[in-house]
Amino acid sequence: MNILVLHGPNLNMLGVREPGVYGHDTLEDINLRLENMAIDEGIAIRIIQSNHEGELVDEIQRTHGWAAGILINPAAYTHTSIALRDAITAVGLPAIEIHMSNVHARENFRRHSYIAPVALGQICGFGSNGYILGLRALIDHLNSKE
Ligand code: DQA
Repeated sequence: MNILVLHGPNLNMLGVREPGVYGHDTLEDINLRLENMAIDEGIAIRIIQSNHEGELVDEIQRTHGWAAGILINPAAYTHTSIALRDAITAVGLPAIEIHMSNVHARENFRRHSYIAPVALGQICGFGSNGYILGLRALIDHLNSKE
């Protein structure tokens, strides 16, 4: 089983960026946890972070034929990007949307997600643990399809 993990803009700043909202874990800490979980589960993951919408779209398209599912924290593009949503729909892969913060308890503009209607589900508010919960949910979903 192959899974693409995508981190959107400014998530490379985790650890430094608003620690009161996003915690102290760095992106490297999160990626290491995901990689260790992938080894334990016997799956392959490819992890990409980009600050550019088009690069995230390219990665989703590139993953077609390789990945069975996508774990994505679209970050600010959650609230703006029809292009990312269309890319997920285009490849037809199950995607789980992750947010470290509880986007529903913050500014109003964070409550709307262009991605949520085309995602399998959304996990938010559990900090960096959300990625682990999301990977678990995606693996279980894909196993239930086999
Ligand atoms: C975020 C929430 C978004 O609203 C924000 O733009 C981010 C991070 C989260 O993980 O909580 O960059 O996706």
